[in-house]
Order: sequence, then C-alpha cells, then structure tokens
Amino acid sequence: MFPAPPRGPRLVLAALGLLLARLSGSSPPVPDVPHIAAYFGTKTRYEEVNPHLRRDPAFVNASVLKPPAGERCSPVHLTAVIRHGSRYPTARNIRRIQRLSELVRDSAGGELRSRWENWFTEDMDGQLVMKGRAELRQLARRLAVLFPSLLSEENRLRISLRSSSKHRCVSSVEAFQEGLWGRPEYRHEVDDRLLRFFDFCPGFLEGVEQNRSALQEVERFRHGPEVDAVRRRVAAQLGVAQQRLTPDLLEAAFFLCSYELSIRSAHSPWCFLFDEDAAQVLEYQGDLKQYWKRSHGHVISSLSSCPLFHHIFRTLDRAGRPRRSTDAPPEPASILVGHAETLLPLLSLLGLYKDPTPLTATNYQSQHGRSFRSGVIAPYAANLLLVLYDCQRGPRLQMLLNEAPLRFPGLEDDAPLYRDVRAQYRHLLDGCDANKACESRAGGRQPNTEL
Ligand SMILES: *[C@@H]1O[C@H](CO)[C@@H](O)[C@H](O)[C@H]1NC(C)=O
Ligand SMILES: *[C@@H]1O[C@H](CO)[C@@H](O)[C@H](O)[C@H]1NC(C)=O
Repeated sequence: MFPAPPRGPRLVLAALGLLLARLSGSSPPVPDVPHIAAYFGTKTRYEEVNPHLRRDPAFVNASVLKPPAGERCSPVHLTAVIRHGSRYPTARNIRRIQRLSELVRDSAGGELRSRWENWFTEDMDGQLVMKGRAELRQLARRLAVLFPSLLSEENRLRISLRSSSKHRCVSSVEAFQEGLWGRPEYRHEVDDRLLRFFDFCPGFLEGVEQNRSALQEVERFRHGPEVDAVRRRVAAQLGVAQQRLTPDLLEAAFFLCSYELSIRSAHSPWCFLFDEDAAQVLEYQGDLKQYWKRSHGHVISSLSSCPLFHHIFRTLDRAGRPRRSTDAPPEPASILVGHAETLLPLLSLLGLYKDPTPLTATNYQSQHGRSFRSGVIAPYAANLLLVLYDCQRGPRLQMLLNEAPLRFPGLEDDAPLYRDVRAQYRHLLDGCDANKACESRAGGRQPNTEL
C-alpha cells in the first residue's frame, strides 16, 4: 500500500519521486491501482469488487451457484439486470473538470499544471468507453460459461434483450451480445419505461429529483466539518485558496482519479491529493446522495421501480410454470441493461442493503460499517442475477449480485423454493402499483408510503 502521503504543495512531486524510484528498480513500489480505488461509489471499477478479474477477466467461479446439494437441480431461466460499463464523464462533470483545470492553471503550486493536461471534451458526454465494452463482453462470456444450457447459440433467438435508450446502455447491450455470440449481431429492444422507470414517475420527479430539500442531508454533509477538512487539505496541496475549491470542484478532483483509472487504466496524479480518510469522506458523500435519491431515503424512489419488479416476476412465473412436453420451452434468459439508477431502487424495493439507521449528514462516524456502499453494490457493469432452477421439490430461485451469492431478506437458503420467495414478496406482488405510487403530490393526493 502507498504510504500516507505527505501534506503540502510538494505532494505531487513526492509522488513523482516514488514513481521514478520504481522505474529505476528501487522500492517502495507504487501499486498500479490507486490506494483509493475502492471508494469511488458508482464510479468504482467492477474489478475492485471482484479483484481476481484483474488477473484473469475470464475466470469463472462455478461454486457461486448454490442449489441444494441433495436435490437434483438444473437452471431453466436467468434474468440479469445489468448496469452499463465504464463511461466518460457526463457533459456537466466535464465542465466541472474544465473549471478545476483552470483553477489549477492559475494557482501558485503548479505541479499538477505541468504534469497533467485536460483531455476531456464535452462531446464525450457519458458515452461508453472501450474498457466499458470489454467489461460487458467479458461479463457475457463468464455468464455463458456459468449457464451453458441457457445462453447457448441455439437459444439465441429466444433470449430477450432490453436496454435503456441511453447511448452507453445501447453500446453495453451490443457488447454483451458480441461477448455471447462472438460477432456483432444485435437484436435488442429499447424500453425506457422498464429501465428508466424513474423518468415516468411524477411523484419521484417532483418529490425527489426536482426537490432540493429531499437531498438536504447531502447538502449539509457537503458543507459540514468532514468535507471542509478535506477541502482545506486538498486546497493547500494545490496551492489555491480554500473558498475557490468549492465542494463541486473538490468532487471533480476526486473523480478525475476515478476517470483516469477506469477509462485509461492510469494512475492519475490527482489521486495523490487524497489519502484513505479523505477518500472515505467523499465516498460517504456519494453514498448519501444515492441513498436519498435512489434508495431507502425516500420510499417513492424504490416504488418507482415497481414496473421492473413486476416484469421480472412475470418472467419468472412463466419460466417456472409446469409444462407438458408439447409446450414451448420457457424463455431461457432475459437481459436488461440500464443504469445504477435502475439497480439501486430495485435492490431497495427488494429490501436489500437497508442499514438499521438512515445515512445522515451527522452520523458519518457511526456509519463506517454500513452495508449501503454504492461502490460495492453498483460499480460499472454491476449486475443482479436471478437464477431459476428446476429442482425435485419444485422451482427454486437464487439471487447473485456482481456474481456473488446474495440472500433474499428473511429467507435462509441460498436458493429457496420459488414459492417461498413469492410469499416473502407477496405484499409487492399484490400491490406495488407504480401508477398509484407515482401520482404527483401536486395532484393533491398523499403519497403512498406503504411498501
Ligand atoms: C467462489 O465462490 C465461493 C462462494 O461464493 C466463495 O466462497 C469463494 O471464495 C470463491 N472463490 C474464489 C476464488 O473467488
Ligand atoms: C420535498 O422533500 C421534502 C423532504 O423530504 C418533503 O417534506 C416535501 O414534501 C417534498 N416536496 C414535494 C413537492 O414533494
């Protein structure tokens, strides 16, 4: 691990010195991956969650599939909800990067100025990068190894593929198909009502997205003592006045480290501005935002995913239904490509990653052990897998997140009977009406807060 960096404007030079020391063969070595790489929230790379993929992106761990050992089971259906892969910053963030680079250019401590040139342009706006395509191709290949009977060439025309209309998602679902079939042959459909359900939910748009006070915990934390202390330290290292390094620009500097890593596999000079403590503070800032915007903070955020929830369970119902030998075989797989904003509300609706205490601006210290870490839940190419097995005692369902087993809240088995999962979610299967839940508050009706 990189030693705690010295503070002050000499920092970047010190880091450069270490790099040169490594090039000349003496220690200590600087790892290729920045020491803060796991703290980038939704801008975290998939291989920080699955580090063995750094060595071998084709490695498949077959023991993640856990139908009961004593029962003969075979997989009959896979639903995969997948986030797009690594991408460029959005235009808004690129403009922040431009302002940050202007600030640094005018500053006194000019080491970064001479070591770093801004290569981001606004037209990159959120597009999938080459690394992102590779992530989706590799994920598809691993899933094809894990589920050879489902994702086979002969099943090709029976696998459904749906994507959000955003360019980065369409590119991702294309790359996924290239990974499966080894050729650029595409047959996906675009379905925003399913994968960008939040855009069709006025109650969410008005109550959360366009409502400043819905994210007040985030604003408080951004101007609170923890972030202030980080700003003070980073501003001093950059040689700029603290008030000129706004919370937005501080975040831009932090994300520059993430972007240069995820896009170019580079160890950016911006990374050396942040020690592990600082990175954890900024990680919390990002998690707070996801929590209050897309997760348990407001019930409407998870309820807005009801259309996706029902779509998934309708698909599973059909796939698990008893059939006569003359019936058409069930859909082997349903591939759904969307955003972190697609996955987080759905996972929240399923009751996952709900910490006993809400994340707030004032409980950073007591939330160190929280389960809600967006970098672990929703890194680039994050995926929720629902595997339906045909077993002796009836259909069973297993859930995996980012290719690791994940249990349904309240159920003991890794692959419980499908009817037990349905019983667990009975209240959602019978309710979870997005039309009702999403009615706008301005319409006079009280929001439906029942889950
Ligand atoms: C494979 O998966 C199992 C079950 O999740 C886990 O216990 C084990 O550590 C994994 N092995 C590797 C090499 O990742
Ligand atoms: C905005 O959010 C606050 C805090 O969550 C809430 O009390 C208020 O009702 C919301 N406003 C609208 C228009 O939904």
